[in-house]
Amino acid sequence: MGTDARELVTAAVLGPGFRRATFGGATRGDTPSPWVRVVVRPVEVRGGPLLQFSYFDARKDTTRNYPVAEAAAPLAEVLAVGFSGVHVATDAEEIDVRTTKKGKVLVGRRKAAGGPAAAEPHNRVKDVPLPEGKADRLLEVMGIATADGRVRPAMRAKFTQINEFLKQLRHALADANLAQVGRPLDILDCGCGSSYLTLAAHHYLNDILGVPARLLGVDVNEEVIQKSVAKGERVAAGGLSFACGRIGELDAKPDVVLALHACDTATDDAIAQAVRGGAKLLLSVPCCHHALNRELRPDGPAEVLRPLLRHGILRERTADLVTDGFRALALRVMGHRTDVVEFVGTEHTARNLMIRAVKGLPSGDPGHVAEYRDLKRFWGVTPYIETALGEPFRDLVGG
Ligand SMILES: C[S@@+](CC[C@H](N)C(=O)[O-])C[C@H]1O[C@@H](n2cnc3c(N)ncnc32)[C@H](O)[C@@H]1O
Repeated sequence: MGTDARELVTAAVLGPGFRRATFGGATRGDTPSPWVRVVVRPVEVRGGPLLQFSYFDARKDTTRNYPVAEAAAPLAEVLAVGFSGVHVATDAEEIDVRTTKKGKVLVGRRKAAGGPAAAEPHNRVKDVPLPEGKADRLLEVMGIATADGRVRPAMRAKFTQINEFLKQLRHALADANLAQVGRPLDILDCGCGSSYLTLAAHHYLNDILGVPARLLGVDVNEEVIQKSVAKGERVAAGGLSFACGRIGELDAKPDVVLALHACDTATDDAIAQAVRGGAKLLLSVPCCHHALNRELRPDGPAEVLRPLLRHGILRERTADLVTDGFRALALRVMGHRTDVVEFVGTEHTARNLMIRAVKGLPSGDPGHVAEYRDLKRFWGVTPYIETALGEPFRDLVGG
């Protein structure tokens, strides 16, 4: 980074109205960097304003607080690393400094939207993970908000879904004892599509909650993966990657598996991926339940439901519920503490059920196995979740 850009960043971070600085991307300094990313933000500790430096390396994060008057030296140390992507937000402006492979320094500056922000109380977690109304480079790159922080009307539902999903993630990580494991969490986002959730979760965990996390988004559609890679490069975030492929074909062992609206049986494949890979936590929001809808027959014990199943819409909704019932029960059989919740209001998406599962119970609980067999017998079907979970599951339930 040239002297002018360095002075610009230093003045913004140490000056009045500083909100947040993120240093990431490739490093172009002379010596190898000890960190993959550094985040600086103002905090209030015991009533006094400090600058908090969070240093992330591949395995852990370290946090140090400095009075502003003593922060010039640690800031110079971070600048010397030569991160290729530097973003600084103040009450007055947003500054982007990008250093190309050839060493060219590109500086972008624009006026900030919204009023001045007070220093955040130490470790305070905001109720809205990604608030609106102020310029946010991530939301802009994601295409959710305009440069001055206004959520695009067409993206309002997605914005709300992502925020509510992130709230669930925050609670679930604490519930699964994953919020502080002393190393970066590996998180797999199945059927990541345009990577709204992947990017948002990466930013929220690493930059806001201070939970080091590596995110991998996988999708079968090569075009969306290419676009996601480009977005990842624009936000210059370390520990963010994308792979084109089918869910379940990946040889991954993530700590956490996420799936937001992975179509039809892709949700089952995501569940199976979580179980097979030993993931401690799974958060899955299913959609387009076609597989069981085709199989449901009002024969056998389910004959009594014929009046319900003859109507297309009732049949469809029944198939949705039965599919998710089988999924949640199969997870219980496999030893996961599982529940199903509404993660967001139906006005934001009709597909608003979330299956939450935390690994840690013995598998093959006789009560759950019996429930599963009875449910199968009642409906006269073999749900796809059984196929996806394969031999280890069949060994428990028979079949
Ligand atoms: C409705 S989109 C949801 C995208 C994203 N999770 C979101 O909520 O914005 C579903 C995505 O799942 C992907 N998909 C469907 N089946 C898949 C499979 N078997 N393996 C990988 N990706 C799959 C599709 O290509 C699509 O991008």
